[in-house]
Amino acid sequence: MATNDQKVIRLAILASGSGSNAESLMGYFAKHPLIRIQLLISDKPDCGAVQKARAKQVPTAVLSLPEWNDEATAAKLLKENRIDGLLLAGFLRLLPEWLVRSYRGKILNIHPSLLPAYGGKGMYGIRVHRAVVEAGEPYSGLSIHEVNENFDEGRVIYQEKVDVPPGCTAEELQALILKREHMTYALIAESFFLGSI
Ligand code: GRF
Repeated sequence: MATNDQKVIRLAILASGSGSNAESLMGYFAKHPLIRIQLLISDKPDCGAVQKARAKQVPTAVLSLPEWNDEATAAKLLKENRIDGLLLAGFLRLLPEWLVRSYRGKILNIHPSLLPAYGGKGMYGIRVHRAVVEAGEPYSGLSIHEVNENFDEGRVIYQEKVDVPPGCTAEELQALILKREHMTYALIAESFFLGSI
């Protein structure tokens, strides 16, 4: 029996980068009966995430910074697509207040460290892993958290520890953690939006 479209939870992915997490989310939810990736929104027209969405026939939208901050434009896009929740996957902009307010409790982000360690403004991409390696940390990890008005500060709903192997470079650590992100984000997002976390 076909799923009642009214009951499907429609999510938008927000991404600015290479889009490997976006790709694994789109793959996982491609045939999901209850959750659909309805749209991928980016602030970078030709980033990997946009290309990966096109390859998977997921609709894309690119919003410039002024469009993103203009409630009328961005809210219209979300409303027209009947978006119920947002998944940030390497999205580098702080969300405008109106957006956090209207989707409070329905926005997740993934961050490649054990927050609150190595999070906050300027802590993204390889910088996170460089800081971890330079500090000689024995382990790092990943965090999935709700999004509020500040970088990396919302309620953490899931964390996973990853050992830093001796002599590991920042690039190697990034690859190790990214692999775990791909295995985890969709499963946690699924539980979160279906109400079991
Ligand atoms: C990931 O490490 C994610 O945790 C962070 O940004 C990176 C995005 O990588 N928020 P990708 O674009 O999904 O490959």
